[in-house]
Amino acid sequence: MRFKTKTSTSNATEHCEQPLSSEKKANLPKHVAIIMDGNGRWAQSRGMPRIEGHRRGAKSVRKTVELAASLGLEQLTLYCLSSENWKRPAAELSFLMYLLEKYLIEERKEIMRQKLQFSVIGRSDDLPKNILKEIDTTIKLTAGHTGMRLCLALNYGARGEIIDAVKIIAKQVQRGELDPEQIDEDVLSSHLYTAGMPDPDLLIRTSGEMRISNFLLWQISYSELWVTDKHWPEFEKEDFEAALQSYSTRNRRFGGLSST
Ligand code: IPE
Ligand code: IPE
Ligand code: MG
Repeated sequence: MRFKTKTSTSNATEHCEQPLSSEKKANLPKHVAIIMDGNGRWAQSRGMPRIEGHRRGAKSVRKTVELAASLGLEQLTLYCLSSENWKRPAAELSFLMYLLEKYLIEERKEIMRQKLQFSVIGRSDDLPKNILKEIDTTIKLTAGHTGMRLCLALNYGARGEIIDAVKIIAKQVQRGELDPEQIDEDVLSSHLYTAGMPDPDLLIRTSGEMRISNFLLWQISYSELWVTDKHWPEFEKEDFEAALQSYSTRNRRFGGLSST
């Protein structure tokens, strides 16, 4: 399967020679979320330290972002660090922070060139100050952009997100600003970190685990799932296309009946 890129300036264009038919374009997901798993296993299976897997994983991020934007996706959400990942050894966490800061600084030029709208979800206030500074800079610089939304999940946990939303809603009720009877799905959604974002249409997980690992539990209620055994550092354009191809054949019923 081949998709045509949206702009001819993208480096990804060379990989996407064939035009994207309007039928296939209609079947593209608007929002793709990815659980980028398997960096450590990728490295260890090659006799390398786990951090080398993270380094290579950052390269996959770069390629995937560019491909997603060139295909015309509206949003790409990447699970970079979960709230549970703080259980890892200090040395690995410190390398992840180093890589994150490096990514934010080095990719800013590309993010600007591709006119991406940058955002983060998660308890980002608990991240190191130097990282917060880089995040804020990129958010401000890209605020007026109209290209793909690139959202990084950093120190993200879906249960924590729901608790944070419930606390805000409970305080509104306590102050008499909200009648508990008014609480519906829209009210809850509008207090999640993802307020204003569409739910993911497609959730991809690399490295074969058949689990969600506390990612976007509310938002993926009706997302299509696609899992590959490949580790994140070896996730290629062909794998992304295979996921999109699979998505294009899914019959999304949302609890109703098939339209065909
Ligand atoms: C995903 O790869 C990256 C992060 C969670 C930060 P892992 O580090 O989980 O790699 P594996 O799953 O242990 O191989
Ligand atoms: C999920 O991967 C988190 C990220 C990819 C950032 P984990 O490696 O943390 O998930 P588990 O521990 O295998 O469920
Ligand atoms: Mg993992």
